[in-house]
Amino acid sequence: MRTDLEHVGKRYGDTRALADVTISLSEEDQVVVLIGPSGGGKSTLLRLLGGLETADEGALSRNGIEFPRTEPELREFRRQNGFLFQAFNLFPHLSALENIVLPLVEVHHWERNAAHARAEEVVERFGMKAHLSKRPAEMSGGQQQRIALARAMAHSPATLLLDEPTSALDPEMKAEVLDLIEDLCRSGQRIVLSTHEMGFARQCADTVVFLSGGRVEECGPAKDVFDHPCSETVRQFLSKVMKW
Ligand SMILES: Nc1ncnc2c1ncn2[C@@H]1O[C@H](COP(=O)(O)OP(=O)(O)OP(=O)(O)O)[C@@H](O)[C@H]1O
Ligand SMILES: [Mg+2]
Repeated sequence: MRTDLEHVGKRYGDTRALADVTISLSEEDQVVVLIGPSGGGKSTLLRLLGGLETADEGALSRNGIEFPRTEPELREFRRQNGFLFQAFNLFPHLSALENIVLPLVEVHHWERNAAHARAEEVVERFGMKAHLSKRPAEMSGGQQQRIALARAMAHSPATLLLDEPTSALDPEMKAEVLDLIEDLCRSGQRIVLSTHEMGFARQCADTVVFLSGGRVEECGPAKDVFDHPCSETVRQFLSKVMKW
């Protein structure tokens, strides 16, 4: 799958969240990691790529076909993707299992028995079988994110979009969730992820996009961006965050 963005811009009121973003992601860019300072535009770009919002300027296309703009088309487009956000991912009144079953049935129109079987399969894969009947409040933050990740990938999405999936977690839980994401990367899942975990970005990304002030400062193979950044902004950012 090929995704092209040409001169993409997005505003929220007076804030220019993205400006003149031009990037091309090819079939080989299976794992794309968005990095950069807070407010740089990572979440905004993820929302545009997932069809949660539309751009104000420029063009986005997938395999040469422009992204949809009408609500019914956008709904269908979103269904092809999986989403995981920083926190508040699960329905609080439902068990872990039902949190996965419900979207499969309601959003993806799976038959209930098949949805159940699939939910059990992904929960087992993510080592969460013992927690199937627990509600989110009865699970740790890391366990909740593992269930949320299981839910995001249960319908085998074309692209999994992860927005800082570990930033609300303590170090041990963070490591657990990052291990799972690494497994998904290895299994061939197409992933676009924003993170402040530079070690993870360096290890797992095929392509790194560095966003600052809504602009792409640098985009390229992880090794190039981390070891030989061309941009002074990227160099300074990395020297600050890689210090510890
Ligand atoms: N819904 C919104 N309404 C108004 N402004 C917004 C909205 N979403 C984002 N912004 C603004 O757009 C800019 C880009 O925000 P964005 O959330 O994309 O950054 P980010 O790189 O994800 O930052 P962080 O690392 O803190 O998550 C910021 O200046 C932010 O304040
Ligand atoms: Mg963000």
